[in-house]
Amino acid sequence: MKVLIASDHAGYELKEALKEAFAKDFEWVDYGTFSTESVDYPDFAHKLATDVANGSYQYGVLICGTGNGMAMSANKHAGIRAGLCWSKEIAALVRQHNNANILVMPARFIPFETASEIVKTFFSTDFEGGRHQRRIDKINL
Ligand code: RB5
Repeated sequence: MKVLIASDHAGYELKEALKEAFAKDFEWVDYGTFSTESVDYPDFAHKLATDVANGSYQYGVLICGTGNGMAMSANKHAGIRAGLCWSKEIAALVRQHNNANILVMPARFIPFETASEIVKTFFSTDFEGGRHQRRIDKINL
């Protein structure tokens, strides 16, 4: 499966580590950033979210320091459900209940092992539908 991934400078090292750790599981399509030089997270969130929202890709992964800037930016796009995850339990629920199509992680607040568990869980958990679909249908204004 092809999966989009992007980060700002704060998330760059985690992005690179996850790409390597899951190289056999996903075909990563990397939208940057490509170094630890300071950049603006909305530039990367909007580029990635555009291509999930238009159907070019089913899923994306966004990483910044807290995850909040990436989530706030990505969630401006209609049809995007970007969920901030800091544990594998949250990652399971954001798929089961919210049908998240973008996984967001806070690089400065989780160790690599946790990020790795989050990625595994997010991509192996299905949406439950039912009452959760009704709620998702109410998200867009
Ligand atoms: C960068 O210093 C930091 O503000 C950014 O990575 C992110 O945490 C913003 O939400």
